Amino acid sequence: MVSVSGPTDPRISVIGTGYLGTTHAVCMAELGFEVVGVDVDAERVRRLAAGEVPFFEPGLEALLRKHLEAGRLSFTGSPAAAVDQADVHFVCVGTPQRPDSGAADVRHVDAAVSGLVTAGLGPGDLVVGKSTVPAGTASRLAARLAAAAPGAELAWNPEFLREGIAVDDTLHPDRIVLGVAPGGTAEARLRAVYARMTDAGTPVIVTDYATAELVKVAANAFLATKISFVNAMAEVCDATGADVAELAAALGHDPRIGPRFLRAGIGFGGGCLPKDIRAFQARARELGVGPALGFLAEVDAVNMRARDRAVALAHEVLGGQPANRAVGVLGAAFKPNSDDIRDSPALDVAVALRRAGCHVSVYDPAAAANAQDRHPDLHVAGSVMGAVTGAELLLVLTEWPEFRELDPALIRPHVTRPVVLDGRGALDARRWQEAGWAYHALGRPARGPLVPRERPPSGGDLHEGTGLDLVNEAADRGRGLQER
Ligand code: UDX
Repeated sequence: MVSVSGPTDPRISVIGTGYLGTTHAVCMAELGFEVVGVDVDAERVRRLAAGEVPFFEPGLEALLRKHLEAGRLSFTGSPAAAVDQADVHFVCVGTPQRPDSGAADVRHVDAAVSGLVTAGLGPGDLVVGKSTVPAGTASRLAARLAAAAPGAELAWNPEFLREGIAVDDTLHPDRIVLGVAPGGTAEARLRAVYARMTDAGTPVIVTDYATAELVKVAANAFLATKISFVNAMAEVCDATGADVAELAAALGHDPRIGPRFLRAGIGFGGGCLPKDIRAFQARARELGVGPALGFLAEVDAVNMRARDRAVALAHEVLGGQPANRAVGVLGAAFKPNSDDIRDSPALDVAVALRRAGCHVSVYDPAAAANAQDRHPDLHVAGSVMGAVTGAELLLVLTEWPEFRELDPALIRPHVTRPVVLDGRGALDARRWQEAGWAYHALGRPARGPLVPRERPPSGGDLHEGTGLDLVNEAADRGRGLQER
């Protein structure tokens, strides 16, 4: 439901129209506010103003067009327009990893604030940081505003949106965190911005700057740790013959643990988790508490090892001879419903197999063009069938719904050998086995194809129920399925 903006409502600017900023600007317009988006990239401004979202995010483009047409949302290259047209300024620029140290590069945040100051920021203006920054950034910026733009206030309001469901996450957040200085107007003004969410019961945590900054990186560190925990368990499962999917299901029933983010596979990637855990460690070292976050180096190492283990498993199922073998890869994006290939485990595995001499053909419903741009020598197929046809090994590396729902019986006639490596624990192993596939996954015993047993002379099935059995139960216990 869209409320109608009134004369006393906050007027909003959003500085930086990348993933976070575009989504935030559009969703603020959806809440009924007048919004101006600002970016230094003229081409991006032009595309957004023309109603085109320069990345893949379900539902975002329709909302962008709706609010452009309603005249509630505009885009510009000029910070002066932000200061002229708005009084609450959300800073949503990127904080990429510095190549030398792993620390966050906050240059764009500093530049965004400088741009506002130069444009005449002053009394009545509220700057709201949403970017993920090292603890201490907000108090440094507050001191700068106090000196250069007296009367302007600063708040820190981290964003927890996930790619692929960014609109819903922004409009229906789990929580709203407001880092504010005591005695100002920031809390009341941000409560006015988020009234629709808080009226619907979204909890608000009002805290200091440092805590607000830390909530974001701590949340990402926890999520990354949970994923690496289950991937470490997958390594132990491989050594013991246990099944990590069943282990995770059993663990997840403990409400203190919970089932989410316990899906073993090729690990986390994307523009946030990997860089955020590295920047968090770098900041902890600067603060003299490096050992407190020493475990995050292990989290990172387990995560990167998962990619190597997937490549090693692929080599193994190819009988140790990857050269010139036809390999189909389904997935290039770091997660489904995204075209984002930043630090994508799927793409890393595909590229490693190509480097090992495999003839790799990759298909992704949204990230194909980005994958091709980044790796011009990678063969990118235009469809599932294009990637699958002739494959001696099929890897499912991003759990797009269309891959999860693939009919293994339908594609089986198109492959040279029906062998699948499920890099995301996304497939129904038994269904694939029943369709005649050998099934492999990290942390799970290899499973041979299930085929109908010969009927005994009496005509009765040996097995009741499915009438299916493993081709070779002994092989099912270990890896030895490669030469099937
Ligand atoms: C993450 C945080 O979830 C979000 O709150 C923050 O604002 C930005 O970073 P996002 O990068 O969109 O969001 O991805 P997320 O859904 O968290 O997944 C991250 C990665 O972990 C993906 O590569 C995903 O495939 C992987 N993952 C997730 C697993 O490997 N196993 C799981 O069980 C869950």
